[in-house]
Amino acid sequence: MKSAKITLKDILDLKNKRKITMLTAYDFPTASLVDKAGIDMILVGDSLANVVLGLDSTTKVGMTEMLHHAKAVTRAVEHALVVGDMPYDSYQVNPEECVKNAGRFIAEANCDAVKLEWFDRCLEVTEKIISAGIPVMGHIGLTPQTADKIGGFKVQGKDAETAQKLIDQAVNLQKLGCFSIVLECVPDKIAAVITRKLKIPTIGIGAGLDCDGQVLVIHDLLGLFERFKPKFVKQYINLSPLIFKAIEEYKNEVTALKFPAPEHTFGIKEEELKKLK
Ligand code: KIV
Repeated sequence: MKSAKITLKDILDLKNKRKITMLTAYDFPTASLVDKAGIDMILVGDSLANVVLGLDSTTKVGMTEMLHHAKAVTRAVEHALVVGDMPYDSYQVNPEECVKNAGRFIAEANCDAVKLEWFDRCLEVTEKIISAGIPVMGHIGLTPQTADKIGGFKVQGKDAETAQKLIDQAVNLQKLGCFSIVLECVPDKIAAVITRKLKIPTIGIGAGLDCDGQVLVIHDLLGLFERFKPKFVKQYINLSPLIFKAIEEYKNEVTALKFPAPEHTFGIKEEELKKLK
């Protein structure tokens, strides 16, 4: 039996019932597998920049790349709620463009919601997008798009003052109507405080067990990204050497005339061949 499409209400209702699962995907075949495995939400993350496009910063992808990949993902998905990640220049460089760009994720790429990383004008931008009827997932803690402004790629909220800031950000995002919030690289006890304080679900990445759900970058989980491995990543399988071995085998078989074999080859009758001049 085909399971129904997950709604925002389903995600909200899962809080305090069972943990919510979320993974990134950036293409049709991966999104199809993630969806068939019954993951609740798929994030077309701007981590696309690092793990798919080989760029050194998520600020280097824009709307063109994000929409291109989001469209491929939503073509595959029947069940999961799909969240499009707003790239840096779609709302931080041009806050005035935020509603138009958020709307493109919904209208052109068929996403169900967008995600915004915290930055100094985050509340203003979030309010505008939600007022336009577009569901928003917040993202606080380590926000890679503005890592240079928060002391680099480091755990956030490690003292009372910065932890209080995170709590206030989360409460304010909930007040504006966000349907959930990603907590990235936050001490587990602070994530637990935020999770208890909010009615909306928290989705953790490097934020401990007490969050309402978890998200990981799929390339990290599958062992497909070798440049760096954050402490919070669990690699469930290391696909890189398996893929490498298959490619090597193909190369060796082609050069040794073992591939294509007769079963991969199309024939023609002798009498037809004889008719050729
Ligand atoms: O872009 C992304 O993949 C993300 C997750 C790490 C939450 O924002």
